[in-house]
Amino acid sequence: MSPTNTPGPASVPAHVAVIMDGNGRWAQARGLPRTAGHKQGAEAVRRTLIGAGDLGIKYLTLFGFSAENWRRPESEISALMGLLRIYLRSEIAELHSRGARVRVIGDMSRFAPDITAMIAQAEDLTRHNTAINLTIALNYGGRQEITAAARTLAQEAAAGRLDPKAINEALFETCLTTAGMPDPDLLIRTSGEQRVSNFLLWQCAYAEMIFTDTLWPDFDRHHLEEAIVEFNRRQRRFGAVAGAR
Ligand code: IPE
Ligand code: IPE
Ligand code: MG
Repeated sequence: MSPTNTPGPASVPAHVAVIMDGNGRWAQARGLPRTAGHKQGAEAVRRTLIGAGDLGIKYLTLFGFSAENWRRPESEISALMGLLRIYLRSEIAELHSRGARVRVIGDMSRFAPDITAMIAQAEDLTRHNTAINLTIALNYGGRQEITAAARTLAQEAAAGRLDPKAINEALFETCLTTAGMPDPDLLIRTSGEQRVSNFLLWQCAYAEMIFTDTLWPDFDRHHLEEAIVEFNRRQRRFGAVAGAR
C-alpha cells in the first residue's frame, strides 16, 4: 500500500474485532502439525497489536479460543494451552510497555489455575494503560455470554432488586463481558470462512464485516490497513436512509 492511501486517524475504526482463523490450514499446507500454525499465529497477534496501536485503533478484540473449541482433540487443546502460557509469559511486559490494557473475556473456569493467575496479573498490571485496549476472547461464546447476562438479570428480578420493566439494551449491556467498551466497528475474519462462529453476537449488530482469504499466521499490518481502507469504502446506515437529515 502506498503511503498516500494509508488511512488517517479520522478514518480509523475505534474498535476492530478479529476472528483469527486458518492456523491449522497454514500448517497443513506446509506439511507441519497444526500446532505449528498456532505458534505462528501468536506472531501474527504481535504484529497486529503493534500495527493497530500505530494506526490509532483504540480497541482490538481477538478471538483466541471459542467455547466450542473444546471439541478439538485433547492433544491440540493442550498444545494451545501451552502456547497461551508461553504467550502470557513472554508478551505481557511488552504489552505493558506499549501502553496496552489487557483484558480477557470468556469463561475462565475451565482454565488451569496458573493460566488464570497469569491473566489476572496481566489485567491488574495493565489496568491503567490507555494507548490501546487489547481484549482476548478465551473459552468465549456469544450465546453463552448473552445467556449469562439474562440469568444475572433474572436473578436480580427474582430477588426483588430489579423491576423487569427496567430491562433495556443499556442495562443488558452492563451485564456483558464487554461492558463499557464501544461495539466493534469492524469485524475481520481470516482464512476465507464467512461466518461469525458465535463471536460477539450482541456487540456486532452493526459491525462491518470483512472476510479475507489470508490465513491468520500470514496476517500482518498491511492486511489490517487494507481492511481499514475497505471499511472506509462502506457506508454505514444503522437502519437510516443514506444522506437523510
Ligand atoms: C484458528 O485456527 C485458531 C483457533 C481456533 C484456536 P484454526 O485452528 O481454526 O485453523 P483451521 O481453521 O483449522 O485452519
Ligand atoms: C473460530 O474459529 C474460533 C477462533 C478463531 C478462536 P473456528 O475454526 O473454531 O470456527 P469454525 O469451527 O470453523 O466455525
Ligand atoms: Mg478454524
